[in-house]
Amino acid sequence: MNHPLIQHKLTIIREKDCGTKVFREVVSEIAMLMAYEVTRDMPLEDIEIETPLVKTTQKTLSGKKVAIIPILRAGLGMVDGFLAMLPAAKVGHIGMYRDHDTLEPVEYFVKLPTDIQERQLFIVDPMLATGGSAIAAIEALEKRGASPSSMKFICLVAAPEGVEALHAAYPDVDIYAASLDERLDENSYILPGLGDAGDRLFGTK
Ligand code: URA
Repeated sequence: MNHPLIQHKLTIIREKDCGTKVFREVVSEIAMLMAYEVTRDMPLEDIEIETPLVKTTQKTLSGKKVAIIPILRAGLGMVDGFLAMLPAAKVGHIGMYRDHDTLEPVEYFVKLPTDIQERQLFIVDPMLATGGSAIAAIEALEKRGASPSSMKFICLVAAPEGVEALHAAYPDVDIYAASLDERLDENSYILPGLGDAGDRLFGTK
């Protein structure tokens, strides 16, 4: 997404000396701008309203209601920005960790709106690295009745490896990234990237 504001703000948070407060604020601002972009194709319909002066036909959103689905923990950093644009959206949480032996993602917490099958789902996670947790999150949603065609995956930084894996597993899920970076390193960190998004958002290490 090459909007100048998004690119400028992404550079601010990539800097290693960007502290927790600014990191958190700017992630939220980027998420807000991305919410604006990813909602571009939302359908509209005509409704009759009355202004203080006349009756008139105007546009209103007509499609599915929205749910924002952060992947814990780092996805939480993008929720407020999305809610600023979509204040009536519901929020579902998906928590996963990587099993040390199998290296497979394991679900440890899933709490979703009861009507996810009827909603447009915006899955948010700042980093799309190997694609493992994104794929597992989509599987978790699918298992509970949601269709991949109603999902969009939104991240700040994507690695080509993650985009490829997610697209191969779920070609119907549109992927939005503020930046497509170069590659993964040997520890599956994105290069140039921005480090560990969860640690930088929450000030942990
Ligand atoms: N998760 C992160 O937080 N950072 C990366 O670079 C890759 C995965």
